[in-house]
Amino acid sequence: MSSEQIKGGSTAIKGEITLPGDKSISHRSVIFGSLADGVTNVEGFLKSEDTFSTIKAFEAMGADISWQGEILRIEGVGLHGLKEPKGIIDAGNSGTTSRLLMGLLSGQNFSSTITGDKYLRKRPMGRVINPLREMGANIEATDDSKLPLTIHGIKLKGISYKMPVASAQVKSAILLAGLYAEGQTEVIELSPTRDHTEKMMQYLGVDLSIDSNSINISKSGGFKAMDITVPSDFSTTAYFIVAALINPGSEILIKNVGVNPYRIGALEILLSMGADIELINNRELNGEPVADIVARSSLLKGIEIGGDTIPKAIDELPIIAVAACFAEGTTVIKNAEELRVKETDRIATTVSELRKLGANIEETEDGMILEGTGELVGAECSSCGDHRIAMSVAIAATRAEGETVIEDSGAAAVSFPKFFEKLNNLRA
Ligand code: S3P
Repeated sequence: MSSEQIKGGSTAIKGEITLPGDKSISHRSVIFGSLADGVTNVEGFLKSEDTFSTIKAFEAMGADISWQGEILRIEGVGLHGLKEPKGIIDAGNSGTTSRLLMGLLSGQNFSSTITGDKYLRKRPMGRVINPLREMGANIEATDDSKLPLTIHGIKLKGISYKMPVASAQVKSAILLAGLYAEGQTEVIELSPTRDHTEKMMQYLGVDLSIDSNSINISKSGGFKAMDITVPSDFSTTAYFIVAALINPGSEILIKNVGVNPYRIGALEILLSMGADIELINNRELNGEPVADIVARSSLLKGIEIGGDTIPKAIDELPIIAVAACFAEGTTVIKNAEELRVKETDRIATTVSELRKLGANIEETEDGMILEGTGELVGAECSSCGDHRIAMSVAIAATRAEGETVIEDSGAAAVSFPKFFEKLNNLRA
């Protein structure tokens, strides 16, 4: 099993960096590119284990996907052109691949089976199965609604669905099924989540309307192929922002970052904690807001985090916990029970790994409470098989006294295969 050593003691982090493409947008570029009529060229596509799972699934269903230098070229098969995959679709560690595919595959004219790795096979799929069954989907699943499951494609009907959980993956699965359903499909969100699916569908000419918290879609006649440029992933950027904030003397410029308002909850949180972060050069790329981000070392203070900010910062809460270790006072994260059903139970794994480094951190049912001490000590930690825990521990370790070892550090490859290389280069 891979392991990584991080020398602590704090190093100022300086320079200008560009980080890999957004994971959510990269997945969707393959899905919509494969369904479009014609060729889609994707620039800035994230090369990672998760996004490669989506590519493999669509290749298995007949899309011709190739690399032309750094551009991903997708020859779409059209909305009704997918073919029955020969084998089982393996979504690996990727919740986005498995859940979005469940929606899409429910309305096809063939059967398919989806599975995943040992982490994904533990994650709840009932949240997707239930609304899809209301639409008429024929899904064979075990009683506990976990992967693997088999979907027998069938004619679907539109529904109006009030989301019981704040989840962009569930919303996207229903909208993808809605492309094939008779009548109107409506998704009502109680708490807003990332809207990359809606933005990309609109960019590609799908008839989708949004009225405050309700999204409506009807059976589609197909859509056009358009080139897509993927901005850098804000979730990945958050690790480097926090690295700069907590290491004295740091100043970094991170170029070309996606700043979709439903993704930058962590930015709002860090600003409330007193962080010196600036967004400059604001612009738009295929309907998505993009900016360059400057972050400088800052004196942080503890705050209370909860409510509608949580879905907008859900993937960044472990790295927010790292920032809170170096803030003055108490940080409370609440209403974050969704963390328990991510790649790992991220309340438990964040608490266990930061505690090994000496953090003063308590687990609560729906979050955690941290007392900022400003001090951590190097220790033997683990990624627990979770990419976001691997990267959060690494950033915490940059400010710990002495050396930290991260076991199973290779988990970072799920979203950022060259993370450790990038971090080490910046600190050199
Ligand atoms: C994602 C949605 C979120 C997020 C995940 C990516 C997406 O999951 O945590 O990393 O691309 O739609 P949920 O929809 O389960 O909240």
